[in-house]
Amino acid sequence: MAEMIKPHGSDTLNPLFISDDAKRAATLEEAKSLPSIMLSSASAANAVMLGGGYFNPLTGFMNKADALSVADNMHTASGLFWPTPVLNLVEDAGDIKAGDRIALKDPNVDGNPILAVMNVEAVEEFSDDDMATMTKQVYATNDPEHPGVAAFNGQGKVCLSGPVEVLNYSYFETDFGDTFRTAVQIRDEIGKRGWSKVVAFQTRNPMHRAHEELCHMAMERLNADGLVIHMLLGKLKKGDIPADVRDDAIRTMVKHYFPENSAMVTGYGFDMLYAGPREAVLHAVFRQNMGATHLIVGRDHAGVGDYYGDFDAQTIFHDIKDGELDIEIFEADHTAYSKKLNKVVMMREAPDHSKEDFVLLSGTAVREMLGKGMAPPKEFSRPEVAKILMDYYQGLDS
Ligand code: ADX
Repeated sequence: MAEMIKPHGSDTLNPLFISDDAKRAATLEEAKSLPSIMLSSASAANAVMLGGGYFNPLTGFMNKADALSVADNMHTASGLFWPTPVLNLVEDAGDIKAGDRIALKDPNVDGNPILAVMNVEAVEEFSDDDMATMTKQVYATNDPEHPGVAAFNGQGKVCLSGPVEVLNYSYFETDFGDTFRTAVQIRDEIGKRGWSKVVAFQTRNPMHRAHEELCHMAMERLNADGLVIHMLLGKLKKGDIPADVRDDAIRTMVKHYFPENSAMVTGYGFDMLYAGPREAVLHAVFRQNMGATHLIVGRDHAGVGDYYGDFDAQTIFHDIKDGELDIEIFEADHTAYSKKLNKVVMMREAPDHSKEDFVLLSGTAVREMLGKGMAPPKEFSRPEVAKILMDYYQGLDS
C-alpha cells in the first residue's frame, strides 16, 4: 500500500470518538448523572469534528490563551500550527468549575441527547475586547451582519476548555448516512483504493460546471489518483441550499460526468464559518487529516459578500512556513465557460478573451431563474443538476 500523507501534528490520527461500544455505552451511562451544559451549534460541530479525527491533534476545546494565540498568529500557545479557535463558548457556566467532568448536550437533535463528555480544565471569560480582536483576526471584519461573525459572537464569552470524549455524530450520521464520513473513514477508504495523490474539493454549493471542471482540471494537472468531494453538511446562512438537495445534485453530476470510481462523494459535519482565508487554512488542515494530498482553492473560497478579496484564500497559504502543513494547495483562477472555445477554462488562461466571451452569471440571477422554473444555460449548469435545483426552488414558493 502506498504511504499516505501524515495527519496534522502527529503520526497517526487520534479521533476523540469512543469507538469501543462497551466503553461508549458506559460513558453515556455515566454522563447521565454528570452536570451538563447545552452546546451552541458551533461548539457541537467542533465536537463532531474532534470526534471524527478531522481536528487532529487537538484533544478537546481550546483555552483562552490558545484561542487568542491561534486567532493572532495561527499557532497555539505551545506552537502547534492551527488557523481558527476551536471553542466551547457559553453565556453562563453556572456552577461548573475547573476539575469538573460534564456532559455536553446537543442543541441540534430533538431531546438534546448527550453528544460528548468533557473534563473541564478551565472556565475563563473573554473580555469584549478579546472577542472583538479574535473576530477581526479570524473573520477580517467585526460586521455583525457577517453570518460567521454573528454566529461566533452569539454564543457567549465564557470559555470551557479541556479534553473531550465524543459519543455520537449528532444529526449528521442519522440524516446523511450515505454521505457523512469521518476523517478516519475517508483515510481508510483512500488506503483501500490505493490512491496516493488525492485531491479534496471543499464545497457548500451544488456543483455547477465551473466546480465540476475545476475538479477535472485539478485531477488532470496533478495527475491525481482520485478526488474526494467533501461537502459541508452543517449549518449555513439563510439562502444557501440545504445539504440534502446539494447531495442529490452532486451525486447526479458525478454519476453522469465523472469516470466510475474516480470520485468519492462525502461530507463532514461542521457549520460554515464564512471566514474566507482562515477557513481555507482550516479546510486544508482537516483535509490533510482525512488523507488528501491536495486541496482545491479557487475564487472566494469560503467567502461571503464582499468581505474577502477573490484570491485572499490562496495568498494566505504563501506565508505559511514549510513543514507546518503537508497538504498542497491547487490554486484555481476564476473558472467559466468560454463561448469561443466551447469549454470551461480558467479565465487567466484565455488572455485574448473579453468578459463577453464567457458565460458569467451571478448567484442571484441563477436563483431567480431556477425559482421561475427556468434552467440556467447548459454552459453554466448540467441539465440533470438544473432539474434538481428547479424542483427545490419551485417547492420553496408553493
Ligand atoms: S465554498 O464556500 O465552499 O468555498 P463553493 O462550494 O461555491 O463555496 O466553492 C467550492 C470551491 O470552488 C472553492 O474552492 C471555490 O473557491 C471554488 N470555486 C467556486 N466557483 C468558482 C469559480 N467560478 N471559479 C473558480 N473557483 C471557484
